[in-house]
Amino acid sequence: MSVRNIIVTGGAGFIGNHVVRLFVNKYPDYRIINVDKLTYAGNLANLSDIEGRPNYTFVRADICDFDRMLALMKEYEVDGIIHLAAESHVDRSIKDPFTFARTNVLGTLSLLQAARIYWESRPEGYEGKRFHHVSTDEVYGALEMNGEFFLETTKYNPHSPYSASKASSDHFVRAFHDTYGMPTVVTNCSNNYGPYQFPEKLIPLFINNIRHGKPLPVYGKGENVRDWLYVEDHARAIDTVFHLGKTADTYNIGGFNEWRNIDLIKVVIRTVDRLLGRPEGHSDHLITYVTDRAGHDLRYAIDSTKLKNELGWEPSLQFEEGIERTVRWYLDHQQWLDDITSGEYEKYYESMYSNR
Ligand code: NAD
Ligand code: TYD
Repeated sequence: MSVRNIIVTGGAGFIGNHVVRLFVNKYPDYRIINVDKLTYAGNLANLSDIEGRPNYTFVRADICDFDRMLALMKEYEVDGIIHLAAESHVDRSIKDPFTFARTNVLGTLSLLQAARIYWESRPEGYEGKRFHHVSTDEVYGALEMNGEFFLETTKYNPHSPYSASKASSDHFVRAFHDTYGMPTVVTNCSNNYGPYQFPEKLIPLFINNIRHGKPLPVYGKGENVRDWLYVEDHARAIDTVFHLGKTADTYNIGGFNEWRNIDLIKVVIRTVDRLLGRPEGHSDHLITYVTDRAGHDLRYAIDSTKLKNELGWEPSLQFEEGIERTVRWYLDHQQWLDDITSGEYEKYYESMYSNR
């Protein structure tokens, strides 16, 4: 595949910044165009280290703006798209499902349609093109505690407005392959953790609260199970599938790393306390059981054997090392957390982009 001009959507978000950084550093001949609306979850400070690179461009735009997406495809002669932009937090989707349908479903459709019109207008058509859709394991629904895993063939059964919107976007991507012949590929990944995650998600929220002696709201009994993957391993998997994955195929991404929430929380507490030089058990009292999330999926667990056997990808980090790195990163980046929790970075963008 000779893809050179790549739009990465949602590149200012948690996973997106790691994907953008990997591609900008690894492929100096590619042009990476980061298209991001900069919602509350997008933060350009996440990319300050690569801001001035010659093969990197940032464009503030809404993926739902079809005319803008088509204009960008033409302007940059885009031949690859890695689509991450989304509303991504389950709790927000419960309060405001419309925003999730708009961005995740209509936004994806707008990108697909813009790519189709642009690519079909080219003499070479779809030759050498790729639309990589980044999705989640949550589309498969919830597993029992019986050792089963999600496979690429598992039937879709989403329960939250978030997972329903992602499932819908996955279907649209596959429909564009089946109907128009667009060269698409879909990846479904388990829960990510690591630097630059917005502190509304479990791990960064709890690290910050432990540091400041604030309560840790554990939903229900803390018995739900999630399968955690270090974010840079996800970015490497996206690189692998984008370049080597079979057109129209699906690849599950995960680290075979299941944790009950309460056990994971205890590891995070121990790690934060140790790194801050506090005695063991110092912050245990912060655990506070609260009302469960509505429709809370019991267990997610990904089988990524196909990706390993067919394309050779494997996670590189053991969980103990990943969590240690992650906790250290948040403890060393208190200003980043403070800017987000105070909304400081959003004010900055509003002043910077208000005339555009
Ligand atoms: P995030 O919420 O941290 O970032 C989302 C980014 O998308 C932000 O930069 C935001 O500004 C941007 N965005 C939102 N709406 C937009 C719009 N209308 N137009 C342009 N940009 C817009 O999300 P994340 O955790 O980095 O997730 C990225 C992708 O990976 C999502 O598609 C998500 O479904 C998927 N995913 C996430 C996880 C996880 O554990 N975080 C796991 C599997 C899959
Ligand atoms: P989260 O990070 O929101 O990811 P997801 O819902 O996509 O899996 O939550 C991870 C798990 O932690 C999930 O089972 C819900 C639980 N959780 C809490 O118990 N308390 C919290 O404050 C949050 C944010 C999550």
